[in-house]
Amino acid sequence: MESRFGNALLLPLTVFTFVHLINSEDFLHLPRLNPVSIGHEQTMHLESGRTLTIKTLAVNPPIFEIEDYLTNIECDHIIALAMASSKWTESTIKGKVDKDKEIRKFNFTQGDKNNDNLLDHLELWYVMPRLQNSLITIKSIPEFVQLYNYDVDGDEKLTNEEFDRIDINVAFQWIENKMKKDKKNVIRLSKQVWLNHDSDEVLRSLKTRVVSLTRLPKGVVDTSEQLQVAQYDVGGHYHGHFDTSKLDKRKCLHSRELDGIKLTEPYDAVKYRLCRYATLMYYLNDVDEGGETAFPVADNATVSEKVIRAGGNIGDLSNHCTDANLVVKPKKGKAVLWYNHLHNKDGWVGDKDPFSYHGGCDIVKGVKWIANHWITVDTDKQRHIRLMNLREKRYRGVERAKQEYNQKQEEQAMKQKETQPQQQEQRKKQHQNLRKHHNNQHLPQSELIGLEDKSYIRNEL
Ligand code: OGA
Ligand code: CA
Ligand code: FE2
Repeated sequence: MESRFGNALLLPLTVFTFVHLINSEDFLHLPRLNPVSIGHEQTMHLESGRTLTIKTLAVNPPIFEIEDYLTNIECDHIIALAMASSKWTESTIKGKVDKDKEIRKFNFTQGDKNNDNLLDHLELWYVMPRLQNSLITIKSIPEFVQLYNYDVDGDEKLTNEEFDRIDINVAFQWIENKMKKDKKNVIRLSKQVWLNHDSDEVLRSLKTRVVSLTRLPKGVVDTSEQLQVAQYDVGGHYHGHFDTSKLDKRKCLHSRELDGIKLTEPYDAVKYRLCRYATLMYYLNDVDEGGETAFPVADNATVSEKVIRAGGNIGDLSNHCTDANLVVKPKKGKAVLWYNHLHNKDGWVGDKDPFSYHGGCDIVKGVKWIANHWITVDTDKQRHIRLMNLREKRYRGVERAKQEYNQKQEEQAMKQKETQPQQQEQRKKQHQNLRKHHNNQHLPQSELIGLEDKSYIRNEL
């Protein structure tokens, strides 16, 4: 049984022989904030003396809104850091389609759900091939049928014979052309960049705040992915998707270092899946119009059927933003926190929570900046511990190198002080600058690198 509010599980650390690096605070349990009920408010005190209100927006999954989580200065700073980066990627049409799978699905009998020997538009839409990162709604189906005159008798339903006239390659081609013509069909229309949490004091402080907010062990927050900053222009959006993957045999992508795979290597979706236990999303600016974050099925899944019956796709947020059960308005400094996974019986990460389906609606006016602070947890607890140790070891190695370097610098400075007292002040300054620079260069390299953008290819509902 999976439970949404699994109890915290405290495992004695001595069970594992290789956990000597884990601090006593890193108990292996995964707390989650209790939503209590919609509208419930809890307060949180920050180190800076500010008090924040955590407001419950949904219970299934638990979704919270925290206004002024970031200050205006912090928001502007993150945007400036992102703008200064040269590593932006665009998500438009990417990835290959699994043609064999799509061809197998393209089958009259499979499509005829109500067994009336006819395919109506909804039934045809279900069997039509999909391209990754594309979202063709059922509204486009009549256009396809008419364009190639497949519906000979014009009754808006296809007989088996009429269906047989459809060439699957023509269908693929049509979808491809449609995507090129209409950006609305692209799953994610934005650009994004990854920032290293350890590269900067402001970003570093966000990690501390996330520990206070989520009450997750520091070791969980420290092994999480880097901060992803995304920018949408007018028409930009992110249709319905999950931030994480279903539990299966694949390993967690964010722990692939344990297999000797560098974080710079492309994401191999056959071997790895996303393991994002929670999402903390920041709005970095005020959007003039649009750009809401929608949770189509939060707290109640039945709405999706309603929209599909009405001829739409609940995940199509260009057309169905306001049909979502929960719609969150962007506001500079606001944070939204939700859990993408259930708990398993041990209180560790369970399967993906189907209610966590969400996306970003079209920007109508202005631009939208967000940042995703994903909290990744390896579903394999032992791998999680190994990853924590790996990072900790590296961190300590770096700290030691820094110390040794600083010591050498001090010694040299002392010597010079003895030999050339008149130049002392000037030299000290130089050394300090050099030290700063050097220290920055010695931050863990792995932390500087984000995941490949391909990790967003998913539209699983
Ligand atoms: C995301 C996401 C929603 C939004 O980036 O994964 O869901 O409102 N964004 O931009
Ligand atoms: Ca039918
Ligand atoms: Fe998302």
